[in-house]
Amino acid sequence: MELEGKRIVLGVTGSVAAYKAAVLLRLLTGAGAKTQVAMTDAATRFVGPATFAALSGKLVLTDLWAAADENPMTHIDITRAADAILIAPATADCLARLAQGRADDLLAAMTLARACPLLVAPAMNRRMWENPATQRNLEILRQDGVTCLGPDTGLQACGEEGEGRMLAPETLLEVLRAFFTPNSLAGKKVLLTAGPTFEALDPVRGITNLSSGCMGYAVARAAARAGAEVTLVSGPVAQAAPMNVACIPVQSALEMYRAVMQRATTADIFIAVAAVADYRAERIAPQKLKKSAGSPPEIRLAQNPDILAEVAALPNPPFCVGFAAESERLEDHAQQKRARKGVPLIVGNLIQEGFGGETNHVILFDDAGSHPLPVAPKIQIARQLLAHILALMEKK
Ligand code: PMT
Repeated sequence: MELEGKRIVLGVTGSVAAYKAAVLLRLLTGAGAKTQVAMTDAATRFVGPATFAALSGKLVLTDLWAAADENPMTHIDITRAADAILIAPATADCLARLAQGRADDLLAAMTLARACPLLVAPAMNRRMWENPATQRNLEILRQDGVTCLGPDTGLQACGEEGEGRMLAPETLLEVLRAFFTPNSLAGKKVLLTAGPTFEALDPVRGITNLSSGCMGYAVARAAARAGAEVTLVSGPVAQAAPMNVACIPVQSALEMYRAVMQRATTADIFIAVAAVADYRAERIAPQKLKKSAGSPPEIRLAQNPDILAEVAALPNPPFCVGFAAESERLEDHAQQKRARKGVPLIVGNLIQEGFGGETNHVILFDDAGSHPLPVAPKIQIARQLLAHILALMEKK
């Protein structure tokens, strides 16, 4: 995982958004990061250090001089070992002090002594944010190589509405993950399909399947973190839109087909993860079908276009990857699908392992044969799949 074992110093300064830093800390430790919290005096007035100590399992650093009693070089030692310092929330005062290169409290001294990247997530009243002094300080920090995350726009604690809210902890976590992901897909356009399709029979009923979208969204998320420009054409699912991914919601296979074909010619990579219905009702009843006294109604089916096969057959196709969910003889069926659809790579999974759930067990089938991957969370499978795709594209 991107954050597994990463040593992150979380700096917290005096803003009401300090409570969100506690949530962020939980997310960071949950993602496997090794965290050390450093708080300014003002931050401790909003949330007590005990909260952060309990969540990180480590004493919180607050005082330059208290630290000096035990180890006079705390600020140097910690920042020397850190992979990144993230100050969230970063107040207007914090930005001003960082821009000046002050070192008169522990967090400022640690930041000045760092040998690692510094990221700041500003949080302040909108007028403080808009003030030329703050913008000037920010510009200095940007020139010094500091990464500014946000702020967000919306309702503020002071009751005003505007720019200055700290980014949500979940967003900051996602940004940090991307920060630690090599930009292996930078400059590449990745088009994906995900989820099921819904083929209406009447205004309330339809034919669909059990795809949750989890696998396809994981691939989209991993591609975006690796720097790709990602477009995700998704059937109806209950997944949150991944950050930095253009999501195009569709219902039916025909809608998915049209959305994909409009974009396929400009894509570098097309990954078809969706469980697309092969058939649709020839005619959608305009009114709700009624239970008839006699025999059940007959539903005539029409074949849907094969999106993957049509993209692969374009004159200059993107690198095409299909998925195959099988109930038996995975290798035979997956290899047959690969040949039939004319794609260089098929990801095979058994239906009981692929549909729903957070993990998957897949085998990659390409010209060189089969490459089984260990059972893993779908996001990890997604990362391995993208690495395999890049390796195949480089060989071409
Ligand atoms: O969403 P989850 O719950 O996480 O589940 C993930 C998954 C099991 C749905 C996924 O891992 C998977 O296997 N997706 C493909 C499902 C499938 O069996 O597809 P298929 O055998 O019907 O089609 C083979 C390939 O052709 C797929 O890439 C499919 O997207 C594509 N296809 C199929 C039919 C069609 N009309 N157009 C297509 O593009």
